[in-house]
Amino acid sequence: MAVKSASETKPAETELLPGKHTLPASWWFSKEIFQLEKRSIFMKSWLYTAHASTFKKTGDYFAYNVMGVQFFLIKAKDGSIKAFHNICRHRAYPVVRKQKGSSVVLGCLYHGWSYNTDGLLSKAPQFDNVQGFEKEKNSLYAINTHVTDQGLIFVNFSKDPQPFDEFFKGLQTEFHEFDFSDYEYHMSYELDGQFNWKTLMDGYMECYHCPTAHPGLTAAFQMQTYRVEPRTRHARHYCDIKRTEPKKEAPKKQGWFGLGGEQAPVEKKNVGGDFDGLWMYLYPTNGINCYSPAWYSIRVLPISPSHTILQYDIFTKKGLPKEEKDEFVEFLQQVELEDFDLCVKTQENLNNGIYNTGYLHPTKESGVLFYQGLVKDDVKKHFEAEKALGEEINPGALGNNGIDNPEGDELDDICKSLECKGDNPRTYAQELNW
Ligand code: FES
Ligand SMILES: [Fe+2]
Repeated sequence: MAVKSASETKPAETELLPGKHTLPASWWFSKEIFQLEKRSIFMKSWLYTAHASTFKKTGDYFAYNVMGVQFFLIKAKDGSIKAFHNICRHRAYPVVRKQKGSSVVLGCLYHGWSYNTDGLLSKAPQFDNVQGFEKEKNSLYAINTHVTDQGLIFVNFSKDPQPFDEFFKGLQTEFHEFDFSDYEYHMSYELDGQFNWKTLMDGYMECYHCPTAHPGLTAAFQMQTYRVEPRTRHARHYCDIKRTEPKKEAPKKQGWFGLGGEQAPVEKKNVGGDFDGLWMYLYPTNGINCYSPAWYSIRVLPISPSHTILQYDIFTKKGLPKEEKDEFVEFLQQVELEDFDLCVKTQENLNNGIYNTGYLHPTKESGVLFYQGLVKDDVKKHFEAEKALGEEINPGALGNNGIDNPEGDELDDICKSLECKGDNPRTYAQELNW
């Protein structure tokens, strides 16, 4: 039997077939689609949020805003990382007001209720003798968390989340290839983007644009080897690095008395390190990018259809000299800024009603097709379910959360019959005043 060579079995890059298009531009600016994405994707997915090593002591917390959902992670007394909605259970004022801080008592500045690091209500002034009031039923709304072996912390807002290992099948095992324990927290920074979250992901999911837009990255990696392999709700990007080559220097002339002879070849270091990249896209909005000098996460926080916050946390190799840390940070910030500029200009044209869809290259942009396919499937499925039910389905809504309040339910039904929206358009434009 004839054995086919690798090139024969490889799928041919044939002509682009119908359907290999981007999603329509309206999905990049529509408020309604944004809200549907919130309910169908962000309220159900495991969202990468932080690395455990950034929490040093009990009470250390970090706060976030995803589509108006304000929440925080905090290190509890038992050492575990817990997540809570940043909503006081009394009258909904935010409990933490800074982007990060440390406190073992979380006091609400409206009426003075306070909570401990387990989210339990510890003090409610003048409520001691109020009949029927149960402190334990008025604790902070807890959010599901999952911490991988590597210390990567994920949250899931759903009341009934899909198990993590099923949602991201095989992810944890694949991350074992990289020794996260050999890296330490270095720094974070943030970019405020006037574009849709998908505008950023579109660029993240392919390197077709790299030779044109990223000269630094192209100098460090062998771009012809770049490929994106889809997995279960995540995708791995591969690319071979350009190995450090001995730098050829002109031999020095023989000096007096045999001193200053021919100089030994000098190593010209690749700023990207010597490790073939391990970049992991995590549906829907996050990326973990591992190089040898450092790894860093991109946390993409959608605020409104055309406003997205990008947060970068950088972890450098233990013992790496300061100059090399600085050099790497400069390298990655340059790449990220190049992407940022592409997004701003692209979004302006996506908004203007002229362009609708574009053809995607079947292999070079297969990652874009993959993630946009996940978005499309989740949104369509959810839309059909809401249509069948005749009302919005918000998997993250916690409502009375175990407290009996029949009158509240009845009044809520009036609102539903009048088509009150659970997502007030003003809430997604609102951001915390850190
Ligand atoms: S809203 Fe927090 S104590 Fe009243
Ligand atoms: Fe890029």
